[in-house]
Amino acid sequence: MEKLIIRGGRPLKGQVTVNGSKNASLPMMAAALLTDELCVLEGVPILRDIATMSRILRNLGMKINQEGSRIVVEPNGYQGIDAPYRLVSTMRASFCVLGPLLAKHGKAKVSLPGGCVIGPRPVDLHLKGLKALGSSIKIEAGYVFARARELRGTTIYLGGAFGSSVLGTANVMMAATLAKGRTVIENAACEPELVDLAHVLIKMGAKIQGHGTPVITMEGVKQLHGFTHRVIPDRIEAGTFLVTGAITGSELTVSGARPEHMGAVLDKLREAGVEVVVREGSITVKPRRRLKPVDVTTLPYPGFPTDMQAQMMSLLAQTPGISVITEKIYPDRYMHVAELGRMGAQIKLEGASAIVQGVPRLSGAPVMASDLRASAALVLAALSARGFTEVSRIYHLDRGYDRIDEKLTALGTDIERTKME
Ligand code: EPU
Repeated sequence: MEKLIIRGGRPLKGQVTVNGSKNASLPMMAAALLTDELCVLEGVPILRDIATMSRILRNLGMKINQEGSRIVVEPNGYQGIDAPYRLVSTMRASFCVLGPLLAKHGKAKVSLPGGCVIGPRPVDLHLKGLKALGSSIKIEAGYVFARARELRGTTIYLGGAFGSSVLGTANVMMAATLAKGRTVIENAACEPELVDLAHVLIKMGAKIQGHGTPVITMEGVKQLHGFTHRVIPDRIEAGTFLVTGAITGSELTVSGARPEHMGAVLDKLREAGVEVVVREGSITVKPRRRLKPVDVTTLPYPGFPTDMQAQMMSLLAQTPGISVITEKIYPDRYMHVAELGRMGAQIKLEGASAIVQGVPRLSGAPVMASDLRASAALVLAALSARGFTEVSRIYHLDRGYDRIDEKLTALGTDIERTKME
């Protein structure tokens, strides 16, 4: 296991280039299961989660060739239908092989992913959608057994207690590509990653309309083809670097980001007193001396993303005044609060809200990462804290940020990756 040692308080400067989106790449890799032809994805980030999806696809009989950020997926002469617990339990996104397997082979056996540190994360909406398309669903010994002689299009309402589901919509959308007739998905997720997936499916020959809106309409086709596609830039990685600039009081430019995917984050940064300059192909933050507290509520897209909540909390924890953060996606996604507390943050949890009493400056401490975005929040807090912070269990960070320590070093951070004793 490795840890990061960060000396806080250094001003940063420069430009960082954002990678392709992890959360767009993962369902697109699963989409390759829908065809017998070659599928090429470009701009895929080099991450543990991508390697996990490659292992799942190999296990299902696919050949994966990865050269840098280019991944080629093609059938390897053998077709499996089984995604085992040992792989699915390490990454929930693997559950989105269920829809493609069912559509292509009429059957699938996929492990239930179970909960994780950010909350219970059920899959009822995925299963409701696949059932509505005509699949039988049986849950036995921790596995979902899905079977359908033929999937048939229908109208499916896909909303739950916390709104739409990103991967639930992806699963149902992928299954409906090969269903007979018309499928209408109501309360579909509108996240840019899902729109990008729709673009891939359309390249494959699927008939889809309304992607990016809450009502997606599809006409099933008999067969899908291979594709070549460049993944959209990672809006969460981009947002994390913008907060890096804000929290260190440094002018930073994030290149390759798509500002049209980041409206809510840019708006909150501006409200907090950060000057945000959007240019063709880049976003620059120029923080003012004194930032202002802001209230943040996470919501499905185009609302403020839950995947930026922890990073924003680190910024607000060092912004004098009271900010209130409310989680409307994962009410328990607050594992970072106690760790930020170890650095001197004053944060009180009340139900799904965090009352953040900003302090002028945090102080470095040994802290432990609990999940991907919580790890990013701890790194950000460390960048501006007084003294040294040791962030352990950074394998969480490596699941979602490609060489973040190298990128931060290039911006001027004093950061070292070492083995834990
Ligand atoms: N939900 C249900 N039933 C379902 C599915 C979801 O009640 O069947 C609930 C969830 O418990 C949650 C809400 O609906 O309260 C939204 O969950 P969603 O299904 O949209 O999450 P997801 O698709 O499993 C993706 C991202 C997450 C991101 C969420 C929300 C990927 C691989 N993962 O998860 O990303 O937080 O959408 O935007 O795309 C991350 O990158 O750190 C990460 C956790």
